Amino acid sequence: MQYTERIKRLESEGAYVVLAKAKALERQGKSIIHLQIGEPDFDTPKNIIDAAVKAMQNGQTHYAPSAGIPEAREAAAEYLSKTRGINIVPEQVVVMPGAKPFIYSAIMALVNEGDEVIVPNPGYPPYRSIAKFVGAKPVPVRLREENDFRFSIDEFRSLITPRTKMVVLNSPCNPTGGVLTPEDLEAIYAAAKKHDLWILSDEIYSRLVYEGEFHSIASVPGAMERTICMDGMSKTYAMTGWRLGFAAMPKTLAEYFFTLAINNFSTTATFSQWGMVEGLRGRQDAVDKMITEFHRRRDIIVDDLNSIEGITCKKPQGAFYAFPNITGTGLSSEEFADKMLNEAGVACLSGTAFGEYGEGYIRFSYANSVENIKEAMSRIKKLLKGVRTR
Ligand SMILES: Cc1ncc(COP(=O)(O)O)c(C=O)c1O
Repeated sequence: MQYTERIKRLESEGAYVVLAKAKALERQGKSIIHLQIGEPDFDTPKNIIDAAVKAMQNGQTHYAPSAGIPEAREAAAEYLSKTRGINIVPEQVVVMPGAKPFIYSAIMALVNEGDEVIVPNPGYPPYRSIAKFVGAKPVPVRLREENDFRFSIDEFRSLITPRTKMVVLNSPCNPTGGVLTPEDLEAIYAAAKKHDLWILSDEIYSRLVYEGEFHSIASVPGAMERTICMDGMSKTYAMTGWRLGFAAMPKTLAEYFFTLAINNFSTTATFSQWGMVEGLRGRQDAVDKMITEFHRRRDIIVDDLNSIEGITCKKPQGAFYAFPNITGTGLSSEEFADKMLNEAGVACLSGTAFGEYGEGYIRFSYANSVENIKEAMSRIKKLLKGVRTR
């Protein structure tokens, strides 16, 4: 049987590969602490569950319009307008099953074969993978530790060529926790405007910022003419399994997104969207609690990592990942991750799962209990001590 060249270009995601390995070890009776997963360990807030159950009981179990139910598009437009300080109307908003489909849809709609897409590296793998899938070239812009893992604007400008079509931003960033400043965003927008680039701004961690404030490129005057500002329910509201994402974009592009949805998955689950309406408009106390807890865990994991010889860790400003430098251990990132999984029972991701510039780093998710984080750090410390004294 034959397979397309296109499908062979798609890459997997490190988190799923490590999860499979960790599950296999657990089946052999090994104790594994899961710090590889990028999902909140909290339950979805009750008011959201109640709203979705009620919707199901009231018959909201049929197809919805492909762009989303009007109430969900209105709620997302209000939320994006309020949180980004701009005026977004429902016609600019599309709802999809998760934030991830926006990456696929944006690249499908805006990038031709042979074009170039500037992607953060280390960065979330689908940006690079989908660009390759459509026959485009992903061009990595290096996020450097010495620059707090922000974009180097000069480096970004130097990567733009006549073939560049799009730049992808992800602030707060997975895997580094880096956050872009208003000055960065203005400079990026100015370059994007000058070279007529689309901006795909993945803002899924927008509420998870622990130092200072979140800034969106959508707030830069004029930027929404060329920006897809995407966010979603998975991380902020602990709703990964509900599959709900939303994005604002120019109206014409939104219409192409509906057509893509019609041809692909038709619609996002109707009762899920009623949960989203409640999530965005309802009480936020459960979210505030989760954010406070993530903040506390961040401080604990960073302190613990810095107490381990050979490891240094900058305080990530956002998301729920620590991205320590492990070069002092003498191990490569892959060796470190494999060793921790197989010998210490700690599942984590090699920085290289996020691109070549992730070498020398490891991603730990702190969306886990303080007890588990502390136990994982103590196992790592013990194992590394053994490596040094051997
Ligand atoms: C940067 C980034 N974007 C998008 C997503 C996907 O989110 P969703 O579950 O809403 O599809 C993730 C999930 O890990 C992510 O880290």
